[in-house]
Amino acid sequence: MVSEPLLSIRNLRVQLSTDRGLVHAVDLSHLTVGRGETCGLVGETGCGKTMTGLSILGLLPTSAPGTVEGEIWFRGRDLLKRGPAEMRRIRGREISMIFQDPVSSLNPAFTVGEQLARVIRWHRRVGSRAARQAALDMCSLVRLPDPEQVLRRYPHQLSGGMCQRIGIAIALALRPHLLIADEPTTSLDVTIQAQILRLIADLQDRLGTAVLLISHDLGVVAQVCDRVAVMYAGDVVEQGATARVLARPLHPYTQGLLASLPSRGASGRPLPAIPGTVPSLIHPPPGCRFHPRCSLAAPRCSRERPRPRAVGPEQEVACHARGPHEGGDRPDASG
Ligand SMILES: Nc1ncnc2c1ncn2[C@@H]1O[C@H](COP(=O)(O)OP(=O)(O)OP(=O)(O)O)[C@@H](O)[C@H]1O
Ligand SMILES: [Mg+2]
Repeated sequence: MVSEPLLSIRNLRVQLSTDRGLVHAVDLSHLTVGRGETCGLVGETGCGKTMTGLSILGLLPTSAPGTVEGEIWFRGRDLLKRGPAEMRRIRGREISMIFQDPVSSLNPAFTVGEQLARVIRWHRRVGSRAARQAALDMCSLVRLPDPEQVLRRYPHQLSGGMCQRIGIAIALALRPHLLIADEPTTSLDVTIQAQILRLIADLQDRLGTAVLLISHDLGVVAQVCDRVAVMYAGDVVEQGATARVLARPLHPYTQGLLASLPSRGASGRPLPAIPGTVPSLIHPPPGCRFHPRCSLAAPRCSRERPRPRAVGPEQEVACHARGPHEGGDRPDASG
């Protein structure tokens, strides 16, 4: 474990007002990312991964006004207590994000070169010639072929993989301390996916940037992350060193996710699915949000929210059935 984490999120609650009602999009007890490390944030669709990432940047969807409470400590400051001007400076320069949809995150009205140069000029306060050279350098860094040509094009004139590389170039242009990469490979085909993952890992090594890699795919996270946090219905239910969590998952949800990975399934047999469905975040279940789907659920689980507990130096789990006594698999039904 890292002594002083780069990012430490505590008791983060994000609620969004929608015409369907108030969505309890995130209710996260605790998540940390160490300096220079890659931490995966993994979970099924709608569990709050993107809203967690956007909250770190102080951005919420304009279509669903909301509230954010809790603490997001980053380099000694609580980001939730910073004003809009300071957050604008922090975005890009200290923390940046690769957005989930590479094409629509770029502005269709400007060439990608203009967009990249603008970020560089605005934050580094350099002239247009220096910004253009820096943009070309970034294109080479993310291995875009023929950067001169690419920078003259509009987003719709580039492939998804190229737009993704431009998104990475924009995100890394200012050498941030933390890069939030939201599903950076989901919309890409398999060979390009592998290239982009290698690229992020390589850049991280060279630039020392910490990465919060958001993905619904535990297989992707297993390939590149030092640590992993497993999210379910708005909260992190288990986190720890990737090797440790994959070798010995403790939360029944993590166990279900791992069992349903194609590479783990016995050949020819259907992969086991987690019974039940993902809960609505408008009316999340009381107590442990996973209890309606959990084979270990005891009466206590529907009443009392489990707090995260350390199980050894490299793993933490929020489950009444799991704890320092680890090894047993029966929940404490006494509560
Ligand atoms: N613009 C929005 N308007 C209304 N509700 C939203 C909006 N964006 C997200 N939500 C809701 O907030 C919750 C968390 O969504 P979020 O986008 O963070 O999930 P996610 O884990 O990133 O999912 P995915 O894997 O599909 O990207 C969901 O219940 C979702 O329906
Ligand atoms: Mg998302």
